[in-house]
Amino acid sequence: MKAIWVLADGRKITAEVKAGQNLMEAAVGANVPRVVGECGGSLSCATCHVVVDAEWAARAGTVGTFEDAMLDVAEAERQDRSRLSCQIRMTPDLDGIILHVPQP
Ligand code: FES
Repeated sequence: MKAIWVLADGRKITAEVKAGQNLMEAAVGANVPRVVGECGGSLSCATCHVVVDAEWAARAGTVGTFEDAMLDVAEAERQDRSRLSCQIRMTPDLDGIILHVPQP
């Protein structure tokens, strides 16, 4: 399956993502700039902040309570479809998902 990150300058990075892998790990593996995953996915850094493309937002699930709190302290300003990508796991439903990388 694939995920696509769109950078602030319009550049796109596409990576293969295995079922069950979270999208922060996939981004780090693909060297997506500004997606760092400093805490390794334990919801304590917000360095995996992405904005889910409008077409994919419904399928990407809802923001959890801790995720919600961490998004408020993310470096780049929180937006309507902001998510912490360590909290999104790849499923067949998300094959082709587009994630925008916000800039502070
Ligand atoms: S990797 Fe730290 S909150 Fe997602």
